[in-house]
Amino acid sequence: MPVTLNINGRSVALDIPDDTPLLWAVRDELDLKGTKFGCGIGMCGACTVHVNGVAQRSCITLVGSVADASITTIEGLSAAGEHPLQQAWVAAQTPQCGYCQSGQIMQAASLLEQNSNPSDADIDAAMGGNLCRCMAYTRIKKAIKMAATAGDLAINVGTEVDHV
Ligand code: FES
Ligand code: FES
Repeated sequence: MPVTLNINGRSVALDIPDDTPLLWAVRDELDLKGTKFGCGIGMCGACTVHVNGVAQRSCITLVGSVADASITTIEGLSAAGEHPLQQAWVAAQTPQCGYCQSGQIMQAASLLEQNSNPSDADIDAAMGGNLCRCMAYTRIKKAIKMAATAGDLAINVGTEVDHV
């Protein structure tokens, strides 16, 4: 029996078992490759998407459990990459290899939805489960702060960047 998912504002019927991890539905069935496989056990955050606006690990989310939910992947975060976090990520030259970054942005977007002006401690608490092998944590935090304060975003574009 097909599973119907609402992903990025689109309703799609997929002929897959309802115990299929959402990550594989997104990547293999819908060809949305921005969501990454890292650990497969909910421990790294590379696969983070939004379920009803809240960050969730798609590798341990079964499609049958989100059939009635609104799911957003990095491709659906904004129409043309203009979400403040995406702009800040570019301005701060945040990624290194880039593999973890869509998960980082989705986690951060969920944070800013709930807290538009997070403190360092708030950011650490929200982002602590998103791992980055390239250790780009300083730039990730900087970009989140830039996105949270639009004035800083304009000021920081093309200026000093922390290469950590
Ligand atoms: S791949 Fe899902 S948390 Fe690591
Ligand atoms: S930028 Fe390489 S894993 Fe995070």
